[in-house]
Amino acid sequence: MSDAEAPELSTSADPPAVDPPGRRELLAAALSFLLGAVPAAIGGLFFLDPILRRSKGGGNDGGDQTMDGFVKLDITPDNLVEEGPPVASTVIADLDDAWNRFKDVPIGSIWLRRQQGGEIIAFNSICPHLGCSINFRRGENDFHCPCHASSFDLDGGTTNDTPPRDMDSLEIVVATDGRPDPNGTELWVKYQNFRRGTPEKKPI
Ligand code: FES
Repeated sequence: MSDAEAPELSTSADPPAVDPPGRRELLAAALSFLLGAVPAAIGGLFFLDPILRRSKGGGNDGGDQTMDGFVKLDITPDNLVEEGPPVASTVIADLDDAWNRFKDVPIGSIWLRRQQGGEIIAFNSICPHLGCSINFRRGENDFHCPCHASSFDLDGGTTNDTPPRDMDSLEIVVATDGRPDPNGTELWVKYQNFRRGTPEKKPI
């Protein structure tokens, strides 16, 4: 046997000691997690913001748009005389796309009329034939479209063969502070457009 010293062999039965992660390493890991997670959470909220607002009813809940799908008109019930001539009104609403809100955008126009007995009716002013604008003819006391001479009576019914259907009626509600109230002073309309050139009234 050589005289060189043999390495010392451990005689202990314990496993070799492993140093636990130091406090500094734990702090570094936590900091690194926060640096990644916080911007990701903020980015996610920003991305989802329009959806979250819409799910809370905030999509079209501007000052004049509290009844779901209805838009408050500038005109009031007092402006409509029973069996008087129809009154035109522009429909103005806030529009949302995915990320933006556009305030007070004219989205269409309607004709309003108070029938005998007091009921208020409303029609989209777009001609159901091919989409021109329907006028009121004071002399003839009817509705008339100048493009191809469609004509309608004051209840919106066709009076010649040109239009494929009656004028498109719209839901209208008398309200107070955005809630239905037959004695209210507000008028709200559910404004919709419909397919043109078809006998059926189909929303688009
Ligand atoms: S678009 Fe009105 S009559 Fe043709």
